[in-house]
Amino acid sequence: MQRNPLVLCEHFELLKSKSISFEQYKVGRVTAMSPASIANLGAGFDVLGMAIKGFLDKVEVEIEEGKGFLDFRVIEGEVPSGEKNVVYRIADGILRACGVRNELDVKIRLWKGVPTSMGLGSSAASSVAITAAIDQALGLNLNPKEAVLISACGEKFVAGSLHYDNVSASYLGGIVLTDHTNLSFIKLPIPKHVFFTIVMPVGLGAKEDKTMAARKALPKYLELEKAVKQGSALGKLVASLFLNDRAMFSESVSTDYMAEPYRKNAIPMYDILKREAFSMGALGFNISGAGPSVFAVSIEKEKAEEIGKSLSDILEQNSVPAKYLVVEPSELGVTTEKKA
Ligand code: HSE
Repeated sequence: MQRNPLVLCEHFELLKSKSISFEQYKVGRVTAMSPASIANLGAGFDVLGMAIKGFLDKVEVEIEEGKGFLDFRVIEGEVPSGEKNVVYRIADGILRACGVRNELDVKIRLWKGVPTSMGLGSSAASSVAITAAIDQALGLNLNPKEAVLISACGEKFVAGSLHYDNVSASYLGGIVLTDHTNLSFIKLPIPKHVFFTIVMPVGLGAKEDKTMAARKALPKYLELEKAVKQGSALGKLVASLFLNDRAMFSESVSTDYMAEPYRKNAIPMYDILKREAFSMGALGFNISGAGPSVFAVSIEKEKAEEIGKSLSDILEQNSVPAKYLVVEPSELGVTTEKKA
C-alpha cells in the first residue's frame, strides 16, 4: 500500500501503522455527531475545553471501492464545500496517509449545526465528526488520543497551529485537560447544576482567519507575576471541579492573564457586558474560546436566561445584532452510528 508523503499535518503520520481491510468498506453509511465546545474556560488557555449541549455537527460518510472520487457536500449550514472545508481536508488527509486516496470513492455529507466564527469550536466539531465517521467506516480502530490528534489537524488548517482544547472536548465530552508535555487528554468532572449563558454577537461578519488573528494578538511572553496568578487560577479551577465548588469554579473562569486582556477589545462592549452580568448575579464571565462569543455562569436557569436577554439587548442597542442561548455542559462527546 503506497503512502503519500505530502501530508500537511504531522499527526496524520500515526495512520501509517494502521491496517485497513477492504471488507471494512462494506459497512454502509456511518454518521457521526459531535458537540460544540467552550475552550479556555478563563484560566485554561489552550489547556481546557468543555463540550456543551445545544449545538451539534453531523457528518455522514459512505465509502466504496473506486477511483478516488471525494464527493463532499454541505446539506445544512453556510460553510464552503470542497477543499476549503476542514471536513474535506481531514478526509483527504486520512485517506492519503492510509494510502487509499485513489482506490476509494467517498461520499460525505455535512449538517452544520455549530455556529461558525463564534468561538464555539465549530471547526473542531466538524473535524471530530469526520474523523470519527471515517475511523468507523475504514475500521481504523483509532484510540481516543489518536482520534483527538487527527481531529486537531483541522485546527492547524483553520488556525495555523495545533491546539487541542476544542477537539478533545468535542471528542471525549465533558471538560478535558490537555497535557501538552505528553500530548494526552484527561477528562475532568463537570460542574453540577451550573448554567452557561452564551451570548453571540452575530453581526460582526464571519472572518475565515478569525482564530488565527486572535492567536496572533497574544503576546509571546507573560510576566512572572501574571504567570503565577494564572497558575493558581488554573489550579483552583481544576480543584473546584473535584470539590464541586461552584463559587471557586466561577471565580477561576473569570480570571485570565493570557488571552482575555488582549482579545477583549475585539469584542463589542466587553467590559460593559462583564459588569452587567456580575451586577445581575452571574457568578462568572469570560470569552468563549477565541471569541467573539462570551459566556456567563449562573446556578439558576432563569437567571441565566435573564442575563442572556439583558446582554444581547445591550449589544442590540449599540447596533450589534446578538443572540443568546443557555446551555449545560455535555457529558457526551462524539457519537457514531452505522446504517446498512
Ligand atoms: N485555545 C484556543 C484559543 C481556542 O483561544 O486560541 C480557539 O478556539
